[in-house]
Amino acid sequence: MPFSQSMEQALNDQVSKEFYAFYLYLAMSAWFAERNFEGFAKWMRIQADEERAHAMRIYDFVLDRGGHIKLGPVQEPPTKWKTPFEVFDDAKKHEQLVSGSINELYTRALAEKDYPSQVMLQWFISEQVEEEKTSTAIVERIRLVGDEPSGLLILDNQMGQRTGE
Ligand code: FEO
Repeated sequence: MPFSQSMEQALNDQVSKEFYAFYLYLAMSAWFAERNFEGFAKWMRIQADEERAHAMRIYDFVLDRGGHIKLGPVQEPPTKWKTPFEVFDDAKKHEQLVSGSINELYTRALAEKDYPSQVMLQWFISEQVEEEKTSTAIVERIRLVGDEPSGLLILDNQMGQRTGE
């Protein structure tokens, strides 16, 4: 069963939002790299790759269902953070926004009795729980360390242990 035009549009919009998240994390990665926080930069770059994979998951779903992909513009991400705390606090706020957006899509899928979209979106609902949990934990760890360089460097080292899954 094909999905509604409004769902098709909403999923295309979500593809753009995931690409914006890719762009945002890439900008954050560059911010850290320019300040020699190699671990944070690596973590953000892997996160950016995950966001691209999120975009492609929805992109493939739209095509698999015989829908039309219409890629919209991707907004320019900010670059003017002052501290590592500000960067991760923005990442956390961004994940909360994305969760809201996924929940709205799910509400639409329920209203339209669009079962395939519901199943696809359930993966994203679980993923967002993880994304919010991770970003909140990092924000709280940086808050504990404050602006203290040695603590930030230890965290930087730990964050650099992340590997792409
Ligand atoms: Fe695609 Fe970080 O949510």
